[in-house]
Amino acid sequence: MGRVVVLGSANMDLVVRMPRRPEPGETLTGTRFETGAGGKGLNQAIAAVRAGADVAFIGAVGTDSFGERLRARLVDDGVDDSRLQTLDAATGIAQISVTDDGENTIVIVPGANGHEGFDAADRALVEGASHLVVQLERPATVLAEAMRFAREQGVTTVLTPAPAREGIDDLIDLSDILVPNEGEAMLLSGAPDAESAAIALSRRARTVVVTLGSRGALVAEAGEIVRRVAPRPVEAIDTTGAGDTFVGVMVAWLVAEHPLAEALDAATAGASIAVTRAGAASSMPMRDEIIAALA
Ligand code: RIB
Ligand code: NA
Repeated sequence: MGRVVVLGSANMDLVVRMPRRPEPGETLTGTRFETGAGGKGLNQAIAAVRAGADVAFIGAVGTDSFGERLRARLVDDGVDDSRLQTLDAATGIAQISVTDDGENTIVIVPGANGHEGFDAADRALVEGASHLVVQLERPATVLAEAMRFAREQGVTTVLTPAPAREGIDDLIDLSDILVPNEGEAMLLSGAPDAESAAIALSRRARTVVVTLGSRGALVAEAGEIVRRVAPRPVEAIDTTGAGDTFVGVMVAWLVAEHPLAEALDAATAGASIAVTRAGAASSMPMRDEIIAALA
């Protein structure tokens, strides 16, 4: 079975639950505060390893206690941390507000995730992988270099274009599998709805999977919608990291050589479990739980 290399961010999530968002100038009392491992890169690595894949992580944390905790999270779950660098910088953080409806807003401070290097040891890891998985919380230069190198090596590239940002055409062109949510897909394509966005983006990336939250997902290839993935209705309490769970589980199924359709059903099942639990990485399901949900 092939290996998954995730190149991405590691953040300490600082999560406050609150009944609603405060207005400018207002002080509001929240109901709960928690810290937990997060960052889109770390989340996708944890989701993939728990779903049964062999996973290595390329990233950076700082010398503070947050960095130590994030490394411990990866190691405890069995992710290869040999290319998680500890830099003289602050570990990335995400300030997350979760309201009672389970929706979140996030402010990130990248810190060590802004590190610019992609060096020989990183290349060696990517070279031995079957899939390279990236998101947009690391510098675009690093992402482009890693994806270009992966392509040259015949390694499948998987890009989650989040947090949404324009001006990443080169990265879209380097994507074998592009997994935007609806808003990201519309922003990147300029199309007015998820379906036409998926179609437009699939003229550039090989396979485009647009996640639609509680409405499932859409798949487009070569300018056509080729599949609709049914949702699994659940009572969401915290959607933080749901998209990351989806991608991590999907890739774990793909490296195990399951067809895309099965990988997407497993990904949907995995994400539907994660949203019923608090936190990002901490809410991600194990392989057995995903299989039980599929049965
Ligand atoms: O995708 C969810 C993640 O986004 C959170 O864990 C937070 O760290 C931000 O990076
Ligand atoms: Na969750």
